Amino acid sequence: MKRVAVLTSGGDSPGMNAAIRAVTRTCLFKGYDVYGIRYGYRGLYDDEMEFLQKKSVSEKINHGGTFLGTSRFEDLKNDEVAQKCANNLLKRDIQHLVVIGGDGSYRGAHKLGQFGIKVYCLPGTIDNDIASSKLSIGFDTATNTVVEAIDRIKDSSSSHSRCSIVEVMGKNCGDIALHAGIAVGAEAIITNKEEFSFDKVVEIVDESYQARKANTIIVVTENICNVIELAKYVEDKTTMETRSTILGYIQRGGVPSALDRFIASSLGAFTVELIEQDIENISVGTTGLTFYYTDLAEALEMEADSKEKLVRLSNYLV
Ligand code: F6P
Repeated sequence: MKRVAVLTSGGDSPGMNAAIRAVTRTCLFKGYDVYGIRYGYRGLYDDEMEFLQKKSVSEKINHGGTFLGTSRFEDLKNDEVAQKCANNLLKRDIQHLVVIGGDGSYRGAHKLGQFGIKVYCLPGTIDNDIASSKLSIGFDTATNTVVEAIDRIKDSSSSHSRCSIVEVMGKNCGDIALHAGIAVGAEAIITNKEEFSFDKVVEIVDESYQARKANTIIVVTENICNVIELAKYVEDKTTMETRSTILGYIQRGGVPSALDRFIASSLGAFTVELIEQDIENISVGTTGLTFYYTDLAEALEMEADSKEKLVRLSNYLV
């Protein structure tokens, strides 16, 4: 009989619970034992794991966050730490480890693969920055949260005829900014895919003012500039009152969307089917409707999509 363990790692994302649930229920359906590891790789190192039953994952699918807990555990890069993590699995005869997380979590899984564990990675991050999957679990919910927040900001911005600069998450990936920015009809979307300067933003705000637009929305991906300084610069150089908002961690929480629950459930079940077929050391991916897998070492080498079409679209629509 196969024994499988599942953990969530890195930044939590809405839909992770649905993925844990799908892994658990599909394992139980196939007659496998399944263990839930608490707090990601840190919990694996500390040997914090529990046997999961059908009931353990009841009433979890509609909750954000991850009921198993998560962590960022840089120590896993160390061979001794990785060996101890692997031993904690092997001493229970657990050969298969399912990891739900982002890029750093995939690297952690790859490391454990070198210590005799068969690893399976599911894309769980709001950033949508996993090259081996078109969509990641949590991205859709986070994007909808951003759209709702900006719609609210627009109400206020329009009332005052202001410019609002909104910083969104994404680490180094502009997907949340691009998708949400297109969906709210932003005047500019700033990502690392295009050249950017404070003066370029001033130009855009001026044009918007000349066009007598009710408000001006600029969406900026985090880590590109200081949006508080940018807002001050724009206000100083234009006739437009300008405010900045950093959306922050509200983007990570909340009720997962139907799409996130669907892809999480499908990817979780698909992973266990691959375990059944003795396929190992892979990452699974999805377009939203189709599901596929890639060798983990190859997945880690894959280049991110250039997002050229999306950037072009955003330029047509402003
Ligand atoms: O990867 C998800 C994410 O929310 C990024 O968008 C953000 O840069 C980062 O995590 C924040 O990390 P932390 O939770 O460690 O502050």
